[in-house]
Amino acid sequence: MPFFEHGKVWMNGTLVPWADARIHIASHVIHYGSAVFEGMRCYDTKRGSACFRLDAHMRRLYDSARIYRMESPFDRGALEAAVLDTIRINGHKACYIRPIIYRGYEALGVNPLSCPVDVAILTWEWGTYLGEGAIENGVDVRVSSWARTAPNTFPALAKTAANYANSALIKMEAVADGYAEGVALDTLGYVSEGSGQNIFLVRDGILYTPPITASILPGITRDSVMTLARGLGCEVREQMIPREMLYIADEVFFAGTAVEVTPVRSIDKLPIGNGRRGPVTEKIQRAFFEVIDGDAPDTHRWLTFVHQGRAAAATAPAAAKAR
Ligand SMILES: Cc1ncc(COP(=O)(O)O)c(C=O)c1O
Repeated sequence: MPFFEHGKVWMNGTLVPWADARIHIASHVIHYGSAVFEGMRCYDTKRGSACFRLDAHMRRLYDSARIYRMESPFDRGALEAAVLDTIRINGHKACYIRPIIYRGYEALGVNPLSCPVDVAILTWEWGTYLGEGAIENGVDVRVSSWARTAPNTFPALAKTAANYANSALIKMEAVADGYAEGVALDTLGYVSEGSGQNIFLVRDGILYTPPITASILPGITRDSVMTLARGLGCEVREQMIPREMLYIADEVFFAGTAVEVTPVRSIDKLPIGNGRRGPVTEKIQRAFFEVIDGDAPDTHRWLTFVHQGRAAAATAPAAAKAR
């Protein structure tokens, strides 16, 4: 999906034209990956454009910054307002939103502390991540030969640019081998997550997902899926998952801002269940899409409306849209 190149980028409090949103090559972040960032979506809901779980994403952004001893010159409230301003200025109905806090230009060396902490927000329009039809038909994946980072090496709970060197290795290997995605194990050999999404499996009607101690990013979509599944009466277990449990699952799906809720139809060329989207996955997808389409009441207050602030949950229409 091409960039929305005519829009503005928010940089340290100033809106600059997309083409002028530049930093110096000697900026610390370029050499040492010293950035923390977020990826979230604004949806074109029936009740207007709304950011999905803006507060949860911003909380994770500030948690990531804290882990890396980066003090943002803007507080969370100011940055949330800036996200909404940027979407409004760029005139998006729906978009992907990328706030980033990074170490800028001052000196180069492993110690980043003398470098300024800079902040930017980019927005651009974006479609399905794993290709047309993925949401309905599912994707083929492989277990990666790359492991996720070990605890006490790169903190998995921080969404830092540096962690995405590992993600890129997982993704490139999968794509080179003709798969849509890779599923990485942790360094003990338990299932961790995809290159940019969390993973769930279903067996005998119970939903399983790796715990945050399995070197995963604690996904906001993962949290939303668990909440929705429990609301649908489904038992959810966060537990260590041996690799082979993937092969004998009735259903497997990915969850993440980019992939939303995408079924996995085969792993290592073994079909999952009957090789098609399963009923639990479909039920959870429907519940998720009803929220982001604005068809279901926003009972969890997950939507921040771009043009009118939060809409009261009670004002939401109850009708569901078929997908
Ligand atoms: C490595 C990784 N895991 C999981 C996720 C899913 O997180 P979220 O649902 O917050 O997008 C992402 C998304 O950015 C990711 O990069």
